[in-house]
Amino acid sequence: MSFEKEILCVGAGYVGGPTMAMIADKCPQYRVELVDINQARIDAWQSDNLPIYEPGLDEVVKRCRGRNLFFSTEVEPAIRKADMIFVSVNTPTKTFGQGAGQASDLQYVERTARKILECSTSDKIVIEKSTLPVRTAEAIKRILHSGDSDVQFDVLSNPEFLAEGTAVQDLLEPDRVLIGCDETERGKAALEELAAVYANWVVPERIIRTNVWSSELAKLVANAFLAQRVSSINTISALCEATGAEVDEVAHAIGLDSRIGSKFLKASIGFGGSCFKKDILNLVYIARSLGLDEVAGYWEQVVQVNEWQQDRFVRQMIAEMFNTIAGKRIAVFGFAFKADTGDTRESPAIRVCKELLEERAELCITDPKAIENAKLELGDHESIEYFADPYEAADGAHAIAVITDWRLYRELDYERICESMAKPAFIFDGRNILDHQALYDLGFSVVPIGKPRLVHF
Ligand code: NAD
Ligand code: UGA
Repeated sequence: MSFEKEILCVGAGYVGGPTMAMIADKCPQYRVELVDINQARIDAWQSDNLPIYEPGLDEVVKRCRGRNLFFSTEVEPAIRKADMIFVSVNTPTKTFGQGAGQASDLQYVERTARKILECSTSDKIVIEKSTLPVRTAEAIKRILHSGDSDVQFDVLSNPEFLAEGTAVQDLLEPDRVLIGCDETERGKAALEELAAVYANWVVPERIIRTNVWSSELAKLVANAFLAQRVSSINTISALCEATGAEVDEVAHAIGLDSRIGSKFLKASIGFGGSCFKKDILNLVYIARSLGLDEVAGYWEQVVQVNEWQQDRFVRQMIAEMFNTIAGKRIAVFGFAFKADTGDTRESPAIRVCKELLEERAELCITDPKAIENAKLELGDHESIEYFADPYEAADGAHAIAVITDWRLYRELDYERICESMAKPAFIFDGRNILDHQALYDLGFSVVPIGKPRLVHF
């Protein structure tokens, strides 16, 4: 069967996988291929056990896999036949050398650009799907045009805004699709070619066109603004605890102001995920390199507050539990950085668990999807046990710490749990998802975030 277009994505991860599955599903006229250097990941994409958990993704992949969606580790032939190449490789924070701890590590992107140059025998549109520092397209373009062949490459920026746990819905009905291009005739024509792919299912008003630098920067800024709202409400949660105000009531009252809006005002143990911290630190690094120290300092605070909120949670646990948790069993409810994902990258659970272990607590960790990743994050430790069943995790525990907002944790039989725990039984609700008064009435001492504590003595 012949296809209208050959679309390739390099990097079959949390973004590449769902995004290409959606394109393949909505555009049966295109052949879509995902390549990755990680054989195990590619094998998993081809199996019944996909490498990432995303509600609704299995169905989408099953509909088009083998029809017009293909997975492979054969990067070179795939590049050769592609018309459009999405680059969706990882861009973690640098851990070495200049900019360590803040700047993006661009080695995977650069390696991909070099591979594209090496293997291409026909013109290509190359699309930055990874989140990249502003002006990276310039570097990619220079690499792609460093050869002596007359193959032409057009570089577009098309950052992804999906959130994990809702990726399928976000891709199906995006708030916007952002495409940035060079302000040349060729650049604009390439942009329209990509816009035509999305136009198969996205309404035209939601396809936004900008120059390439605005597109790259807008992605970092969107994440910075979202994270900033979480840190803002988390600072207010501390004020609420000190004054008797209730953070959810404050958030509701301000969120009704249409200029503020109600989303992303849920106080919590702090934000996690692979991108918020990384992208803000990247913004901080860029600002500082440009001599904009005040800009850098402003955004750096968002990350600092987030870490402070996690430390504050642990401090509060220790203070409530009579200033010692050594030898006490703590049931950790949830390890994923948010509900509906198995992803644990930068999850607040990591920092919190490490601090609890330093205090010599015994941890009983449970999560419906993230146990395997939790084991990778924390490694082998004699004071950690893992449980699939939250009832087993809580059995004999002195306290429960709710770290992830899984719906499941709202629906447990807390009377049964309370009976099985050591007394006094504590619940530290790092997500404010439980019915605190009902738990208190059952006999728990309950410590929420940004609300009065309900303790029995
Ligand atoms: P990921 O680590 O899940 O996936 C990246 C994949 O790229 C890995 O499987 C890796 O093996 C592969 N890879 C690396 N170098 C390669 C190469 N040279 N050739 C082939 N494959 C290669 O990362 P992710 O979460 O999908 O993120 C990818 C990018 O998208 C990042 O820049 C991230 O900031 C951005 N982003 C992520 C999300 C999210 O929700 N995770 C959302 C929006 C944007
Ligand atoms: C976020 C953005 O929402 C996406 O638009 C973006 O594409 C993505 O980052 C990315 O670039 O990687 P994601 O990290 O998957 O998506 O999840 P979010 O829903 O944004 O949640 C991030 C963290 O903030 C989670 O730990 C969540 O629990 C926390 N959060 C969120 C709160 O604590 N309170 C809130 O009100 C909202």
